[in-house]
Amino acid sequence: MKPVELINRRSDDDVARELRADAREGLTAEPKRLPPKWFYDARGSELFERITELPEYYQTRAEYEILEAHALDMLELTGVDTLVELGSGSSYKTRLLLDAMRKNGTLHRFVPLDVSASALRGALETIAVDYPEATLYGIVGDFDTALAELPAEGVRMVALLGGTIGNMRSRQRVRFLRTVRDTLSSGEWLLLGTDLVKDPTRLRRAYDDSAGVTAEFNRNVLHVLNRDLGADFPVAEFEHIARWNGDRERIEIGLRSPRAMRVRLDGLDSTVELVAGEVIETEISAKFRRERVDSELAESGFERVEWWTDSAGDFAVSLARAR
Ligand code: SAH
Ligand code: AVI
Repeated sequence: MKPVELINRRSDDDVARELRADAREGLTAEPKRLPPKWFYDARGSELFERITELPEYYQTRAEYEILEAHALDMLELTGVDTLVELGSGSSYKTRLLLDAMRKNGTLHRFVPLDVSASALRGALETIAVDYPEATLYGIVGDFDTALAELPAEGVRMVALLGGTIGNMRSRQRVRFLRTVRDTLSSGEWLLLGTDLVKDPTRLRRAYDDSAGVTAEFNRNVLHVLNRDLGADFPVAEFEHIARWNGDRERIEIGLRSPRAMRVRLDGLDSTVELVAGEVIETEISAKFRRERVDSELAESGFERVEWWTDSAGDFAVSLARAR
């Protein structure tokens, strides 16, 4: 078997520099915060995969149902031969799109991009076996900065699945979607998965599961800081917080310090003080209505062509064309 090809756009030095900058900025801000991309070291990527199997976390199953029902429609409407997946993780659901491309006779190229090299390698090792006719390579990179690296060939579709767009704030989303638009030519395609506004109790449970996997995933960011920044956060003491903000229609995730503490960060040559009960914000997960998806797509230079939901109406996949 050929080794999988990974193009690495994140040198160890760059990653170390970015982590120092994000930690310095985020942990001196008020309120304190850490960007969610630091969840995803090899352990974080594994924990996310476990989240996707939890009974409370309906998103992955709902999006799978949509792709299963409509992947062929997506191919008939677009005829794409090159699929670029941003924040691809395990690319498990993406196989439904690859199958549809194969049926359509246009499976030429698949290029997943992720910050997690371990997730990319795991995905590509099995995809290379199952789709030998396709040109495959992965890009280890940050989708906020690495879009210039995407393949220029073919009729392209950029997919951002799983609701990952919801982990950005509203302004950041439009900025990001505009950059995606600008890397595409007019007439090329975007496939966007969005979790929908629903009963807050179900939403809270999806982010605070009874087995505690999401709590472990959330705390993992502190393990990353301890290991890669020489920090000494007492990780197990931090309480996982997931609350619904009904005004902003988003889940807000954080880690609450149980007591006043001073944390040493050797890599920053500094310390951070936390008061008892203080929350470090680690992630938001915005939930959408159709009008908001349409308006953000339109503002970013896309025309939404199709909107599909699962049978329960929990999740939506939008197909949009670059104007
Ligand atoms: N698309 C998959 C995985 C979603 S989890 C699914 O639907 O199941 C979010 C994924 O995005 C993770 O694999 C994580 O490593 C990746 N990710 C998070 N922030 C990123 C960033 N800034 N740039 C690139 N990938 C990122
Ligand atoms: C990757 N992203 C869409 C997930 C979400 O649902 O916002 C990350 C996650 N955080 C906690 N559970 C899952």
